[in-house]
Amino acid sequence: MTSNPYPLGLRLHGRRVVVVGGGAVATRRVPALLDAGADVLLVAPELTPALRARVDAGRLHWVPRRFVPEDLDGAWLVQVAVDDPMAAASVSAVAAERRIFCVRADDRTAATAWTPAVTRHGPVTVAVLGGGDPRRAMTVRDAIRDLLAVRLAPDGVAGRPDASTGTIGGRQAGRVALVGAGPGDPELITVKGWRLLTEADVVVADRLVPGLLLDELRPDVELVDASKIPYGPSRAQEEINQILVDRALAGAFVVRLKGGDPYVFGRGGEELLACAAAGVPVTVVPGVTSSIAAPAAAGIPVTHRGVAHEFTVVSGHLAPDAPASLVRWDALAGLHGTLVILMGLKNLAAITATLIAHGRSPQTPAAVVQEATTGTQRVLRSTLGEVAADLRAADLRPPAVVVVGDVVGALDG
Ligand SMILES: C[S@@+](CC[C@H](N)C(=O)[O-])C[C@H]1O[C@@H](n2cnc3c(N)ncnc32)[C@H](O)[C@@H]1O
Repeated sequence: MTSNPYPLGLRLHGRRVVVVGGGAVATRRVPALLDAGADVLLVAPELTPALRARVDAGRLHWVPRRFVPEDLDGAWLVQVAVDDPMAAASVSAVAAERRIFCVRADDRTAATAWTPAVTRHGPVTVAVLGGGDPRRAMTVRDAIRDLLAVRLAPDGVAGRPDASTGTIGGRQAGRVALVGAGPGDPELITVKGWRLLTEADVVVADRLVPGLLLDELRPDVELVDASKIPYGPSRAQEEINQILVDRALAGAFVVRLKGGDPYVFGRGGEELLACAAAGVPVTVVPGVTSSIAAPAAAGIPVTHRGVAHEFTVVSGHLAPDAPASLVRWDALAGLHGTLVILMGLKNLAAITATLIAHGRSPQTPAAVVQEATTGTQRVLRSTLGEVAADLRAADLRPPAVVVVGDVVGALDG
């Protein structure tokens, strides 16, 4: 008779777990054990490069030989990740003798514990056992994961784990997350960024964030359109900082949603400092930056073997001769690699002239990518000498990224 398994959440922090085997199965199992804080002892004559990297990083202990019974001294759990059924059976026999639960990759029926298919959503862990059928477990797990990613938070089932972290003046204190929304395609936000967005009470969004992300917010979320805040740019930034701080101090979980990555010409640092000064905790979630994604979307890798060993991202917001400019355009002209210019359309003629005057060849391939990763993306291919004129003729507009360097043609057949 088969009886149902009894589900448990093992708290392995600081507890010895022995993994026998150093191949593909062990490579998949070990990260979750380390994530749980387990003291992992790996017993295997050989390791995969991924496991060896963890050993080299001091994350686990490795004994480079075959299993001996003494390896289980002090162990709470054993994972047998070897193909050889005889070897696996001898490990599980020792484990059974010592009343240590044993997971077996080679034979589930011989195991005394099963590893479930798992999905994690913030502090919530969902573990699915498929009655001995791992495929069934994975199918159910995938369905639950999709449900959690898309619809759990709006119903409040997931709670707001990142939201309330303490009290200020007797009130529940909120917090802020600076989230990179990616370059334009709504699917290019990170999983974590998306999760926090679905948990937000207030979303303060930039002009360049993908509109579709905002479309999916809960109806009760307060949406602040930061691009509509009046006054000049520095005054507007102060206003945004104040909104973040005020809402968080009132107890809200505020997501500051920014185009691309928050720290790439995104003023994320200023917002973090303003929150820190007010005692508001901040989480920063990096985003896919347009400086890499826009070239990629146009078929241009920012580095390519034998073509470019460096790429430099620079703001073209100020003209090269502007007194406030911090960019050494003369030095950039001397580099061989890729130059990616953001916010550079207005000053492109002056920028290209400066680069050429300081030695970069006018024949260097150049491209402009407008509204990258969106349905309205446009790409212009040209040369450093011609790109400013071609840009005017083609009537390209911001937001756009300019790429200069031999990588522009690197993938052309
Ligand atoms: C204020 S900066 C913000 C950059 C952003 N934090 C990032 O990491 O992508 C705005 C500039 O980013 C570039 N940009 C942002 N999104 C873009 C897109 N989808 N296509 C092309 N360029 C984009 C343009 O150069 C634009 O003027």
